Amino acid sequence: MILPYLNPSLPTQQRIDDLVERMTLDEKIGQLNQIFATPESEERDKEMIRQGQVGSRILAFSAHAGNDETEADAYTPLWEFQRIAVEESRLGIPLIFGRDVIHGHLTVYPIPLAQAASWDIELVEAAAKATASEAVSDFVHWTFAPMLDIARDPRWGRVIEGSGEDPYLCSQMAKAQIRGFQGEDTSAPGSMVACAKHFVGYGAVEGGRDYNTIEVTENTLRNTYLPPFKAAVDAGVGTIMCAFNDWNGIPCSANGYLLNTILRNEWGFDGYVISDWDSIKGMVEHGSVEDAAVAGQHAIQAGVDMEMPGHCFATHLRQQVAEGTVSEATVDQAVRRILRIKFMAGLFEEPFVKVRKQQPKGLKSEHRQLARKLAAESMVLLKNNEDALPLANDDNCTICLIGPLIHARRELLGNWTLDGRPEDTVTIAEGLAQLRPDLKIAPADAAVDAQIRLARKSDQVILVVGEDHFRNGENANIADITLPAGQAQLIDAIHAIGKPIILVVCSGRPLVLTDIEPKVDAILWAWHPGSEGGNAIADILSGNVNPSGKLPITFPRATGQIPIYYNYKNTCRPVDDYYGEDSRYQDQVGKPMYRFGFGLSYTHFEYSNFTLDRSQMLTDECITASIQIKNTGKASGFEVVQCYLRDVVASTIRPVRELKGFQRIHLKSGESKTVQFSFSESDLAFYGADNQQRTEPGEFQLWIGPDSSATIGGKFYFKQSKDSNIATERQACLNPDPSFC
Ligand code: BGC
Repeated sequence: MILPYLNPSLPTQQRIDDLVERMTLDEKIGQLNQIFATPESEERDKEMIRQGQVGSRILAFSAHAGNDETEADAYTPLWEFQRIAVEESRLGIPLIFGRDVIHGHLTVYPIPLAQAASWDIELVEAAAKATASEAVSDFVHWTFAPMLDIARDPRWGRVIEGSGEDPYLCSQMAKAQIRGFQGEDTSAPGSMVACAKHFVGYGAVEGGRDYNTIEVTENTLRNTYLPPFKAAVDAGVGTIMCAFNDWNGIPCSANGYLLNTILRNEWGFDGYVISDWDSIKGMVEHGSVEDAAVAGQHAIQAGVDMEMPGHCFATHLRQQVAEGTVSEATVDQAVRRILRIKFMAGLFEEPFVKVRKQQPKGLKSEHRQLARKLAAESMVLLKNNEDALPLANDDNCTICLIGPLIHARRELLGNWTLDGRPEDTVTIAEGLAQLRPDLKIAPADAAVDAQIRLARKSDQVILVVGEDHFRNGENANIADITLPAGQAQLIDAIHAIGKPIILVVCSGRPLVLTDIEPKVDAILWAWHPGSEGGNAIADILSGNVNPSGKLPITFPRATGQIPIYYNYKNTCRPVDDYYGEDSRYQDQVGKPMYRFGFGLSYTHFEYSNFTLDRSQMLTDECITASIQIKNTGKASGFEVVQCYLRDVVASTIRPVRELKGFQRIHLKSGESKTVQFSFSESDLAFYGADNQQRTEPGEFQLWIGPDSSATIGGKFYFKQSKDSNIATERQACLNPDPSFC
């Protein structure tokens, strides 16, 4: 007779109950243990798996997988490991293999920050789906993505991994990626389990120094840092990774308020929480516990279920249960959560199926097409003086291509690409040569002087600069967000000989362009564009694709402006000084270089006929704003129409504006469309001084436009009815009980 837990026709809960009932304490603790395996530890690892002491393996050798070129070898011998788990361990519980598949697997898509710049939810979802389909064939059941850390500090290297500074955009990207990775049914072939990370506040590390402490109030946490995670939970994410940093002095790896109170009790998350790499033991280094045993005890009691390499659970839990410092019920709870996801992923039914026999030679052409489209859509045109772009089709105009990254392959893939192969990457020189055979390309070994001589002989210069793939990523922070050494001088040198410059920048973060911008005619921000980067850049420069990317993060004028972000809280001085119109520095204007949401096109879009369908809105009513957008230029193109809202007076100060909706629309030359945004009471809600979600009556201001400086809009008044679920009268905080506000 088939054992109940192996019977797929029984409800998951019943299968979990049956399995947990049969497990010994050691087997339970084994499920909480994630190992990393090296060739040297292989025999020991196999024996541990046989004994039921392992629940998962991370496919990485080191704690900084994103920066380690050897990680591509981390696969062997997965089949054998799984076979031992399923056939030789007492209960045959399959292992779950996890890997950092961050922005592509074999086919590499643009870095996540770039993907957010596309504002194209469907395409981002499609890229995640295609990524999963490749990764599962390499036996990856589970990806440690998406990263949902709001990042307002481009000095921080991990800014590349997230969707930028805005909670709403980041939430939309979170949902898209999770849908793409997990699919409708995570057990279906080609789907894998996602992991929303790093819970929470990691993007606020002080000074942009990775792993640093954060100072974020609960109010800011709830209004700014938590929403993308809430969106992930609502989208059914299977797992969550807690962050290295502390919140309120308590490391996130043992922060019961975050993990149990908010994540589980308030939001109803029923997947499992994994620590970050060794972050449980990291509490000893934090100085919040005296040793690894107590660290493990605090972590499991606070709601961490699986330990990413580290030995706190595996070494100490058995004794802690025997002594009663940790209850077996607490262990059971963690085991149940892990088993739930293993069942959800269909691992008991198909522990082996998703593996390919050998690496394919090239990349799938449909994945290449997707990568090319997403890369082109993610690029942001920041400057285009007198229509310098697209490149003119003029036989009398010689154009040259120079710069340190024109023949780069690995650099174009960007950080956190463990499996992307440089040989599958289209360089910028290759991409452009195909579209412009007349282009003069500096050879790979051309010295800087030779490149300048080539520029001297040309009428126009395409100059490609930027960061390599290890200048950003984990623990790759920079104190001064300028171009890498020597690149500004190269721009100066070309400018000095009077040649028009089309500047292409490949980068994982915003960089300061203040001195450079006046010296160039056009700037295309190409990020780290992935396997099809060269073709995508050629598509944009040639005009085959009209740029439509918009910045998901503010570009400062100087490193000293950081932090600078569009959705800051209003201040009393200067009044209504949006984005620092009046300088608060003696040596720098207050405004950023490029604002959030900004990006140019080869055509022009005119916004007009704004209307609001009502001037007052009550609970249970919706308000709809409409605007007409006309393509007044010659080229057809996409426009990302953005809608921002401000709660003018509230019991706690609200941001000067917040993104509340966007639509990516296509318009042919001369075409007009009307775009509508509708909002209900929940869209007006925020967390007040009591950290409860609330809405308050009063005036709201709404704007629709091409970026966060949108000026067209109108006002409306909101008033709750008695039956509002969210409503809290502002009165409560106007006459506050001191203990409450
Ligand atoms: C990073 C995580 C990553 C893990 C495994 C850690 O150092 O913070 O984001 O998933 O390593 O590679």
